[in-house]
Amino acid sequence: MARLKSSSDRYGSVAVWVHWLSALLIVVLLVTGFRAANAPDALGKAALLRAHVPAAIAVLLLTAMRILWWWRFDSKPMPLAGLPPWQAGLARIVHVTMLVTVVGMVASGIGMMVLSGAGPAVFGAPGAVMPDFHEFLPRRPHGLGARLMVALLALHAGAALYHHFVRRDATLKRMW
Ligand code: HEM
Repeated sequence: MARLKSSSDRYGSVAVWVHWLSALLIVVLLVTGFRAANAPDALGKAALLRAHVPAAIAVLLLTAMRILWWWRFDSKPMPLAGLPPWQAGLARIVHVTMLVTVVGMVASGIGMMVLSGAGPAVFGAPGAVMPDFHEFLPRRPHGLGARLMVALLALHAGAALYHHFVRRDATLKRMW
């Protein structure tokens, strides 16, 4: 049976599930977010945001669970033998920046919804008018955070694939 907690050489099943569910939801958020921002009509934008907002809340809950899990219940496996310290340091910076970016994205997303009063238009109240989100301050950090998230994801996934296919070590396998 899969172990819930991590061991010294691999991640436990809670960490693995939280990781891959968050990854899937973040991809859904990037796709629905960029498509909503470019949607030609209010109905299409509302439909995309009806998926975007609940997916973001799910990511927030998973992130809270992840922080609690590592803080109270589990410890990370040992770094892989032979990993240069600069790579371990860079990986740590990327991971922490991803976490901070997720929290910032959720906060700015909620800020946009609250300040613009877009709830009724997004969730389909008859006659409600979709606001222009660019008129509200959190729209700018949300857009910048989205681009930063794409760059971080590319670095993170690129590094995992490099370890798996070029160095052929267990980096990706122990998160599976
Ligand atoms: C990890 C969390 C989130 C991610 C990765 C994310 C991603 C995105 C992306 C990629 C965009 C398009 C940005 C652009 O084109 O400049 C966007 C727009 C948007 N997001 Fe999010 N988002 C997140 C959380 C939230 C939350 C919590 C809410 C609301 C409660 C929200 C509401 C919106 C809205 C209203 C837009 C603007 C659409 C428009 O300009 O028409 N987002 N998001």
